[in-house]
Amino acid sequence: MADEIILETRAVRREFGALVAVDDVSIKVQARTLHSIIGPNGAGKTTFFNLLSGNLAPTGGRIFFKGRDITRLPVHKTAHLGIGRSFQITNLFPNLTVLENIRLSCQALGRDNFRFFQSHRRFKQYEERAWEVAQQVGLADQAPLLARTLPHGAQRKLELGMILAPDPELLLLDEPTAGMASEQVPELMALIERIQEAGQKTVMLVEHNMHVVMGHSDKITVMHQGAVLAEGTPDEIAANETVQTAYLGGLYDLAGKAAV
Ligand SMILES: Nc1ncnc2c1ncn2[C@@H]1O[C@H](COP(=O)(O)OP(=O)(O)O)[C@@H](O)[C@H]1O
Ligand SMILES: [Mg+2]
Repeated sequence: MADEIILETRAVRREFGALVAVDDVSIKVQARTLHSIIGPNGAGKTTFFNLLSGNLAPTGGRIFFKGRDITRLPVHKTAHLGIGRSFQITNLFPNLTVLENIRLSCQALGRDNFRFFQSHRRFKQYEERAWEVAQQVGLADQAPLLARTLPHGAQRKLELGMILAPDPELLLLDEPTAGMASEQVPELMALIERIQEAGQKTVMLVEHNMHVVMGHSDKITVMHQGAVLAEGTPDEIAANETVQTAYLGGLYDLAGKAAV
């Protein structure tokens, strides 16, 4: 059980014309861990997530989720199987309340959607689940507020709540701390870690903030020009000379402290 692989890619590939955005990436993600993908801008991280979630089809290779081949499944199918996906861009309904945003996410992505007739009882279940999630992400007090009135940090929490609402097993978080004031980052990361641990979930994280990645990841995959440059624990990555040269440079020193 300790070594259960929840997600595996085998030589997954995506070309855009002549550009190879994801170049034969093979990784294994252990269940119930936090696995980060790092790499410079344009390394292919977001495209890789798009392949995993079914937002994009690979041009080569295979993807397995819990042993099942999901290579060609579209996003609504991967969502039903238990893969939750966030986007770099904000994905909220600005003129709905916090609770409505979360509830809609339960309804849209719940395992039993596509029903034309939603009973009152089912609606109440979604409502209850939305409250539960609002509490989990620390937004119960803001539940009746319109999403657009929330400060940026709270909007990022709401996005997390919307991913969490249908209770996915694997969360794909693409730069969840992007645009946040640095003093708000630890709180969001603590929240993500709590969700991962308490909910026995697997989290894959794309993150630019090296301090965040080093402090919270069980494992790190470094991408560079579409390919995997290195993989290992935070200590292994911090000590990896190829990574140091190609990417981390002066941003992160070997003692494991951020230089900036
Ligand atoms: N839909 C697309 N069409 C053409 N090129 C794309 C598309 N999406 C991404 N790319 C290119 O693929 C490369 C990887 O991009 P991306 O996955 O967004 O990198 P990252 O998230 O690591 O910054 C970049 O060169 C980018 O311009
Ligand atoms: Mg990206």
